[in-house]
Amino acid sequence: MTNPQAVTAATPGTLRQARVLVVGAGIMGAGIAQVAAQAGHRVALFDARDGAASQARERLGATFDTLVAKGRLQAAQAADALARIEPVPSLEDAADCALVVEAIVENLEVKRELLARLEQLVDEQCVLASNTSSLSITALARDMKHPGRLVGMHFFNPVPLMKLVEVVSGLRTSPRVAQQVFELAQAWGKTAVHARSTPGFIVNRIARPYYAETLALLQEQAGPPEVLDACLRAVGFRMGACELMDLIGHDTNFAVTQAVYEANFFDKRFVPSLVQRDLVDGGLLGRKSGRGFYDYAAGAVAPVAQPAAEDLQAPRAPATRLLLAGSGALVERIASALRRADQAFEQDLRADWCGLQVDDARLCLSDGRSATAMGAEVAVFDLPLRDDSGLALAWSASADASPDWVRQAPRWLHLLGWLPLRLRDVPGLVVARTIAMLINEAADAVHQGVCDEDAADHAMKLGVNYPAGPFEWLARWQRLGAIDPAELLDALDRHYRGERYRVSPLLRDRARSVARAAHEAR
Ligand code: NAI
Repeated sequence: MTNPQAVTAATPGTLRQARVLVVGAGIMGAGIAQVAAQAGHRVALFDARDGAASQARERLGATFDTLVAKGRLQAAQAADALARIEPVPSLEDAADCALVVEAIVENLEVKRELLARLEQLVDEQCVLASNTSSLSITALARDMKHPGRLVGMHFFNPVPLMKLVEVVSGLRTSPRVAQQVFELAQAWGKTAVHARSTPGFIVNRIARPYYAETLALLQEQAGPPEVLDACLRAVGFRMGACELMDLIGHDTNFAVTQAVYEANFFDKRFVPSLVQRDLVDGGLLGRKSGRGFYDYAAGAVAPVAQPAAEDLQAPRAPATRLLLAGSGALVERIASALRRADQAFEQDLRADWCGLQVDDARLCLSDGRSATAMGAEVAVFDLPLRDDSGLALAWSASADASPDWVRQAPRWLHLLGWLPLRLRDVPGLVVARTIAMLINEAADAVHQGVCDEDAADHAMKLGVNYPAGPFEWLARWQRLGAIDPAELLDALDRHYRGERYRVSPLLRDRARSVARAAHEAR
């Protein structure tokens, strides 16, 4: 069916006036309809289930009322937006739309059937967008007559609040169509990023290690969930990985991990966790089932990560000397803390390790080795990526450390301004390994042309509320003067052996450039 109006409406830039058809009036479809209507579009809303589109419109009416009551929307704007949303009883009723966004069930065959049906109805120029979170846009387009018009338009839940839209191009997506949808998403008040259609796109791919590293630590009995969560919150994550997985639901989180793992031909880097599988099999799905890592029953007391009171006492003054090793922002910070505490110290700016030597015992910043691998009288501390004092910081002691140094090490960490939380002696502790893996995954996504660095940073900040983007972390990490994340991952790789900590070629090259620049600066 040809419609001259739709032909014009799909010329570049003019999707902004387009009548939009949203297919699927569930949680995502309703949100997309709301955002489009608030941006001034006439929106047709269709759902295969009788009455679902009308019910969604009624719910949107209630949402608009709440927004008006809270003063976030004027009554007239709300009435206009609602009036623009029209539930339609059949797809034929929206054949003149210039843009279709589908948000139906996540099933390849069902979505392909819908796309085939739409192609029979709409104009040749009509843009078709899929909100799929895991299916390949290339695979969805396989049987289409005009595959260039299909693009991923991946919103995040809740759609009206989450700023990010991943605009996903399959092998045959027309760059012009991708750009049109990108500009439209921006016009709807979102931040759009371009992505190539690969498993997990940007956010769901780069985020995997956030969960995976904590799950790996739990499997190794590194420490309890509340301690791991406290360490991650200390670098600015709104939720630790355990509380976040409990919120998302372990069934959903496990399914995404499994899908990314399978889609990457069982690459060990994405291997799902037995710890999470157990929770799923046992029905411990998180908040929604009342129990996951934490207990959500009424009256249950949430465990709090706290160091032992004796770890917070003043450390014993060194008998011979205090030596500050290494250079960079972290060492300067430690030097200031020592001066504030009236501790005299010597400095070795050229040391090949970073930390504090107290007589013959060492308190070392993690370089990806365990404390035991680094020596006998050694304690290791995690990467303090944020400057604020009083933040939780993981540490561990060598299996061969004397009881006296095990007692003294956390006291020194506390004197330097941190809240020391002890873990079993795992390499890369919590923050260093998690952030290094997030950076590595982002680097690999860029290396493979999935997105550019800016897109990766925007996507992680806006799609999952990370406190910084992976490439911003990389820059901060390198300023700290700590060991490079690529070297940290190499150390983890030597410790664990296997593919999991394989360094991305792009991160490896970045590390070489930084090392070369540092060498030339000397
Ligand atoms: P939902 O289950 O809330 O809604 C799906 C709606 O589609 C239902 O109302 C259903 O009746 C309707 N439907 C199913 N088959 C249909 C068909 N052939 N034609 C017309 N309507 C049909 O699902 P939700 O959560 O809204 O997800 C929809 C899509 O959005 C999926 O592709 C999902 O992967 C994706 N997505 C979901 C996110 C989430 O957090 N829920 C986030 C980002 C994307």
